This record gives sequence, structure tokens and C-alpha cells, in this order.
Amino acid sequence: MQISSERIGSNGIVLGIDLRRITPFAENTKILTHDIFDPIICEEILRILPRKANVVLSDLAPDIIGVWQVDHLKQIDMVLKVVDLLPQILQLNGTAILKIFEGESTQSFLNRVRRIFHKVHISKPPASRGKSSELYIVCEKYRLN
Ligand SMILES: C[S@@+](CC[C@H](N)C(=O)[O-])C[C@H]1O[C@@H](n2cnc3c(N)ncnc32)[C@H](O)[C@@H]1O
Repeated sequence: MQISSERIGSNGIVLGIDLRRITPFAENTKILTHDIFDPIICEEILRILPRKANVVLSDLAPDIIGVWQVDHLKQIDMVLKVVDLLPQILQLNGTAILKIFEGESTQSFLNRVRRIFHKVHISKPPASRGKSSELYIVCEKYRLN
């Protein structure tokens, strides 16, 4: 969030959503302390955003229990919730960068985003290299509006 806020500068806003309370740290940043699964989350987001977003970033992760299959499925469920919100919150031709825990649902997740974005590629940034199972799915040119 901090990097997004610095990159965007005073011309845009960053809206961060987390269950945990985060102290606002910049003028261009707004924080929504909220559960992504709450049915009113979309309303809450649209109440704050002046228009649909250019970019949606998701770094969501559950509390890890240490059983990979369970952690993976819980995490994918969270990112799918973000994908479900995209028609309301992401503008046409927008970008989404979505972190996933790699596992049995990776392929079906990729199939899902490939249907709604023109371009999808997988990135493993240096910062997550040690954790072999985290991937960032970079989705460009959102097809829907
Ligand atoms: C890997 S951390 C992301 C940290 C974030 N990038 C940062 O720089 O602070 C994953 C975050 O997902 C949040 N989270 C987990 N379940 C959530 C939910 N249901 N709704 C909203 N946030 C959730 C956690 O509170 C945690 O802060």
C-alpha cells in the first residue's frame, strides 16, 4: 500500500481494505477496516472510491494453519471473492495483481481470470522467492465493465 501510495502521488487515491486496523499514513490513502466476505463490502468500497479503480491489488492471506491444502483453498477462496467484486470496482481495461498460494486450484483460478482479462501472466517477485508457493497473477486489460 505504501509503495502504491508513493507511486500514485497526489493525483489519485489508494484504498486499502484489511480486517486489521491500519493507521492511515498518507493523504492519498484511505483505509477500510472490513471483512472482504461481508455482503456489504462492495457498497462500502463504492462509497469511498470516486470512480472504478484503474488497478486492484490483492495480497489477502488467511491465518496459516500449516496444512497446505487447507491454507491454499482458504486463500484461493479469498482471491475469488476479489474476482467476484471486479465488475463493480475495476474499470474496463484495468489491471488486477492477485497473490495466490499455489496448489490444486491454481489452474482453475488461472482459467477464470483468463476469461475476463485479455492478458494474464504469472510473476514471482524476488521478495517471495523463498516461499515457493506464493505467485502473483498479473492480469491486464479487463474485458468487462
Ligand atoms: C499478507 S498480509 C497483507 C499485508 C499487506 N500487504 C500490508 O502490507 O500490510 C494478508 C492480510 O490479509 C488480511 N485478511 C485476511 N482475511 C481477510 C478478510 N476476510 N478480509 C480482509 N482482510 C483479510 C489480513 O488481516 C492480513 O493483513
